[in-house]
Amino acid sequence: MRARGERDEFVFKDSSLGLLRLLCFLILFVTGIIIGLTSSSHVDRYFTSQPDNFYMNYASAAPAPSYGSSSSKTATFDHDCSTNLISCKKDDCLNMESFRMPKNLSHQMTDNELFWRASMVPNKPEYPFDRVPKVAFMFLTRGPLPLMMLWERFFRGQDENKYSIYVHTNPGVHLNVTNSSVFYNRQIPSQHFFLLNASVSFQDVKWGSVKLVDAEKRLLGNALLDFSNERFVLLSESCIPVYNFPTIYKYLIGSTYSFLDSYDDPSRYGRGRYSRRMKPEIKLRDWRKGSQWFEIHRTLAVKIVSDTKYYNLFKSYCLPSCYPDEHYLPTFVNMFHGSLNANRTVTYVNWSLGGPHPASFGADDVTEKLIYLIRNNGTSCYYNNRKTSVCFLFARKFSESALAPLLGLASTVCFGIDGTGFSQDFQEHVSWSSGNLGNTFDPNNRKQM
Ligand SMILES: *[C@@H]1O[C@H](CO)[C@@H](O)[C@H](O)[C@H]1NC(C)=O
Ligand SMILES: *[C@@H]1O[C@H](CO)[C@@H](O)[C@H](O)[C@H]1NC(C)=O
Ligand SMILES: *[C@@H]1O[C@H](CO)[C@@H](O)[C@H](O)[C@H]1NC(C)=O
Ligand SMILES: *[C@@H]1O[C@H](CO)[C@@H](O)[C@H](O)[C@H]1NC(C)=O
Ligand SMILES: *[C@@H]1O[C@H](CO)[C@@H](O)[C@H](O)[C@H]1NC(C)=O
Ligand SMILES: *[C@@H]1O[C@H](CO)[C@@H](O)[C@H](O)[C@H]1NC(C)=O
Ligand SMILES: *[C@@H]1O[C@H](CO)[C@@H](O)[C@H](O)[C@H]1NC(C)=O
Repeated sequence: MRARGERDEFVFKDSSLGLLRLLCFLILFVTGIIIGLTSSSHVDRYFTSQPDNFYMNYASAAPAPSYGSSSSKTATFDHDCSTNLISCKKDDCLNMESFRMPKNLSHQMTDNELFWRASMVPNKPEYPFDRVPKVAFMFLTRGPLPLMMLWERFFRGQDENKYSIYVHTNPGVHLNVTNSSVFYNRQIPSQHFFLLNASVSFQDVKWGSVKLVDAEKRLLGNALLDFSNERFVLLSESCIPVYNFPTIYKYLIGSTYSFLDSYDDPSRYGRGRYSRRMKPEIKLRDWRKGSQWFEIHRTLAVKIVSDTKYYNLFKSYCLPSCYPDEHYLPTFVNMFHGSLNANRTVTYVNWSLGGPHPASFGADDVTEKLIYLIRNNGTSCYYNNRKTSVCFLFARKFSESALAPLLGLASTVCFGIDGTGFSQDFQEHVSWSSGNLGNTFDPNNRKQM
C-alpha cells in the first residue's frame, strides 16, 4: 500500500487536477516544438557543446546519422581503439583483425557457445578484406604428434596465408614446440575428451566415442572462427601428406565437393548398427557409414557445427557397438547435404589385411614405391565430375618409426613434398588440371588399370 501511495504522490495527487495536467502537457508540447526547431537548425553547435562523455555515448549508440563536420569524431571512435577520448579495454573493442581471424586460440567458450559463434555466416558476398582461401589442417591426436617433423617439412616455405593449423589433444597434454614451429600456439582447448591410453586405437574405445565427434566438432568450430578458412581437413596423428602443399591446396580449393566418406553398408557392421529408436527422424534407408577422416568445404562445416538435433539422437542411441564417429556425419550429410558431397575420402588407408584394423606402415614399409602406390593404386575416382587417378592426398596409418624414412623421402624427387619432381607425376597422373577439361580418360591411367 505504501509503495503505491508514494508512486501516486510522485505523479498526481488528485484526479481533480486534470486541468493542471492538460496545462503541463501543453507546456511540454510547446517546449518540444521549440527544442525541435532549435536543434534542427543548430544541431552541430548543440551537440558539440555537450560534454565529450555525452557525445561519445550518443555516438556509440547511434553512429548512423551524419552531422557534418562533427562526424569525423565519430569515425575516430569507431575505428581506433587506442583513442584517449574514452577508456576502452583493448580486448573489448570491435576489432576487425581479431573478428575475422582470432590469433589466440585459447578461449573460455563452452562447446555450445563456440558452435553458436562458428555457425555465423556473412550475408554480404564481398569481404571487406583481401580474403585468400585457406586450408585448415585439423589434427585430432591424443598426445604429442609423432610425425610433427614431417608436417613441419610439408609446411616449410609455404605461403602462410594459405593454411592454418589446429591441434586437439587430450586434456593435460601440452605440445612442447618452439616459437619457430608452425604448431606453436595452435592447440585448441579440449574438454572432457579422454581416451584410455596411447596404445588403444580409436576403434578400441568402446564407450563414449561420441567424444570423438565432440572433438571433431570442436576442431571445426575453432577453425570456422577464421573467416578465411575454406576447406577443413581432419587428420590423425598417424596421417601423412602424399603430395606437396601446392598440389594439395589446389586440389582442395578447386574442388566443388566436400570429401566425406559416406556409403551404405548392408552388413551388420553398417546397417546392423542402426537403432530403431532413432525413428522417425532417422530411417534405416538414411543410415550411412564412413571413415571419420574428412575433408570438407566451409558451407558443410557450418551445417555440421549447427546441428544439435541429429547429434543428440546419435549421442542417445548410437551406443556400443555403434560408433558415432563412423556414422553420425555420413548419415547426417547424406540426409541433408548429399549434393555437396563427393561421398569419398581423400585419406588413403590399407584395409587389405582384413579385420577391424587397417594395415599400419612402419619403418620397413616406407619406400618410394609405397608412396607411388598410394598416389595411384590403379583405382580411379571422380574429381569435379571428371574421372581421375588422383584420389588420395593423405594416408594413414604411419607409426612413429616411419618418420625417419619418410623424412628421407621428402628430400628426394619421389616424395614431392618439397615440390621437386612433382611436375613429372603431375603430367602422368593428374587429369583434373584445368588444361584437361573434358578429357575424362587419360591414356596413362588406362594403361595402369
Ligand atoms: C590467450 O588468451 C588466454 C585467455 O583466454 C590468456 O590466458 C593467454 O595469455 C592468451 N595468450 C596470448 C599469447 O595472448
Ligand atoms: C620441451 O622441449 C625442449 C627441447 O626439445 C626440452 O628441453 C624441454 O625439456 C621440453 N619441455 C617439456 C615440458 O617437455
Ligand atoms: C622465440 O623465442 C626466442 C627465445 O626463446 C626469442 O628470443 C624470440 O624473440 C622468439 N621469437 C618470436 C617471434 O617470438
Ligand atoms: C595403458 O596401456 C598399458 C600398456 O598397454 C597398460 O598396461 C595400461 O594398463 C593401460 N592403461 C589404462 C588406463 O588402460
Ligand atoms: C553423394 O551422395 C549423395 C546422396 O547422399 C548424392 O545426392 C550425391 O549426388 C553424391 N555425390 C556425387 C558426387 O555423386
Ligand atoms: C596393402 O596391404 C597388403 C597386405 O599387407 C599389401 O600386399 C599391399 O601391398 C598394401 N598396399 C599398399 C599400397 O601398401
Ligand atoms: C586402392 O585403394 C582403395 C582405397 O584403399 C581400395 O579400395 C582399392 O581396393 C585399392 N585398389 C587396389 C587395386 O589395390
